[in-house]
Amino acid sequence: MLVQKNVPLQAFNTFHILAKAHALARISNVTDVQTLLATPEWAQMQKFVLGGGSNVVLTGDVKPLVLKVEVMGRRCVGETAKAFIVEAGGGENWHEFVAWTLAQGYLGLENLALIPGTVGAAPVQNIGAYGVELQDRFDSLDAIDLRTGVVFTLNAAQCAFGYRDSIFKHTSASDVLAGHQALGLKDRALILRVRFALPKPWKPVLGYADIDKKVAAYGGSQPTAQQVFDWVCEIRQAKLPNPEVLGNAGSFFKNPTVTAEQCADIIARDPKVVHYVLADGSVKLAAGWLIDSCGWRGKSVGQAGVYEKQALVLVNRGAINGPDGATGGEVMTLAKAIQTSVYERFGILLEIEPVVI
Ligand code: EPU
Repeated sequence: MLVQKNVPLQAFNTFHILAKAHALARISNVTDVQTLLATPEWAQMQKFVLGGGSNVVLTGDVKPLVLKVEVMGRRCVGETAKAFIVEAGGGENWHEFVAWTLAQGYLGLENLALIPGTVGAAPVQNIGAYGVELQDRFDSLDAIDLRTGVVFTLNAAQCAFGYRDSIFKHTSASDVLAGHQALGLKDRALILRVRFALPKPWKPVLGYADIDKKVAAYGGSQPTAQQVFDWVCEIRQAKLPNPEVLGNAGSFFKNPTVTAEQCADIIARDPKVVHYVLADGSVKLAAGWLIDSCGWRGKSVGQAGVYEKQALVLVNRGAINGPDGATGGEVMTLAKAIQTSVYERFGILLEIEPVVI
């Protein structure tokens, strides 16, 4: 395994921001990590794990040693009365993995079609779309400790999944949901393989407005998993920019949760606010709507812009392989200006979703 120096990262991040890794190692297996850790020069260095680069904003050249995960493989590893247990390497492309599971007859990931990124990155932010989150289909994962080289397995509770959140996004115990794991695992663990429990029997997850419109247009009877997959692809292609054409990192902010009282205050001033009441009585607000109603849709700072069809997505208006695209600084200036105007109007501080490095 070779460590390369001064590696351009523009093709390795879906925002297509121009930046370099001071050093980058491609990781195909456990031995690659253990070899690095046995080399004093690399063992001491801080590490940054890069999956598909679909959830990261690069604000300059990356000084930590970049570990690009290329652990491959997909297979069914077991079957219980209730589920097929299907495993994939952390370096597998997420969407191709979802398509493969359906082709094999393992159903249940179809609502998560077309999400950019890799299998190994999916648990980090607990990806979710159209009523399904990764944690709903998760069995366990194998990861390697980047300090000791020891491989360990985590179940769902140990991953401390939350909304676009997990133990892999946090650095310390005080940071994570209480009672799960002694330490956060940010930059400390590399996810090698993920196992999914795909339900038997399968039934579609409907109830999300965009999907239900497709069901109604189809005639209202129960769709197949392949139909749900196709509809999710159509909906995403209509609303979200393709990162191979227009650089972006998906939703840039999380949808905020407020109390019923806070929501009532906002409704009194802005009756049209898009909101969903959660099981515990708190209310989730559509961050896209909040940003949109502050007039940000289509606006830009330098080459960083707010996507015309979905205000929750920030885009790089430069060519994906050109020298004149948005800098990470421009993206963050735009993000901060959006946060300020949403805070001033609604009293809500939007939380940034991707990892900023
Ligand atoms: N809206 C506006 N204006 C906008 C954008 C949205 O009024 O510019 C309104 C929409 O009309 C809709 C509501 O806001 O009523 C919600 O929009 P949408 O259904 O597009 O979903 P979202 O809440 O913006 C979330 C996820 C997406 C996921 C979709 C579908 C987050 C941060 N984002 O977006 O996930 O695909 O739901 O489930 O939770 C991602 O995380 O990168 C991502 C794309």
